[in-house]
Amino acid sequence: MEHVDAAAFWDTRYAEQPAASDPRPNVRLVEMVSELSPGDALDLGCGGGGDALWLAERGWRVTALDVSAVATARLTELARARGLGDRITAEQHDARASLPDPRVDLVNAHYFHTPYAMDRTAILRAAAELLRPGGLLLVVDHGSTAPWSWNQDPDTHYPAPAEVVAPMRLAPERWTVVRGDSPRRIATRPDGSTAEVVDHVLLVRRDA
Ligand SMILES: C[S@@+](CC[C@H](N)C(=O)[O-])C[C@H]1O[C@@H](n2cnc3c(N)ncnc32)[C@H](O)[C@@H]1O
Repeated sequence: MEHVDAAAFWDTRYAEQPAASDPRPNVRLVEMVSELSPGDALDLGCGGGGDALWLAERGWRVTALDVSAVATARLTELARARGLGDRITAEQHDARASLPDPRVDLVNAHYFHTPYAMDRTAILRAAAELLRPGGLLLVVDHGSTAPWSWNQDPDTHYPAPAEVVAPMRLAPERWTVVRGDSPRRIATRPDGSTAEVVDHVLLVRRDA
């Protein structure tokens, strides 16, 4: 897909679906972050907002970024309705242009995929630089095609965690790859149907 207006593309996708009243957090976020002490987080491509809401409910202060104004408006409304308005700042923003500059303890990039070209490596690299020492970058990508995915191209290549982190060129004296693997899980659609899917999980810690 060439020359795509990213904001219009995602606004259309979100506007086609009714706003979720109770968006759920991603499984890997819950798995990886439940035991962490809350701090400041950046949710990159927050979408429906399940991750941002879950983090804020646990005491995190979340900047939730998405190119879709539909997504961020919905999240702002959900956060306000749950009394989390002071912990979630949902910003319509194109991460290709820039990122907000506050320092954070966690960057969450869950399924930050697009069907058009995007220099994701540069965005993830810039997001990693926002971390305070000890902070974590969690990148969770699809590793397989769910039967209900919008992308049913059998030739799709899902880069493994090692392929995601290598081009980021993170200096080993400043960064540690804490986890890079491809676990399986049973995913459930809202209609109740299930399928086994693969996630690519990358967790990087900023050491200095
Ligand atoms: C596949 S969705 C994942 C949403 C959410 N993180 C989740 O796990 O359900 C990808 C998200 O990235 C957002 N996105 C795509 N390109 C972006 C960009 N250039 N800047 C900011 N957000 C972007 C989309 O609007 C969409 O919400």
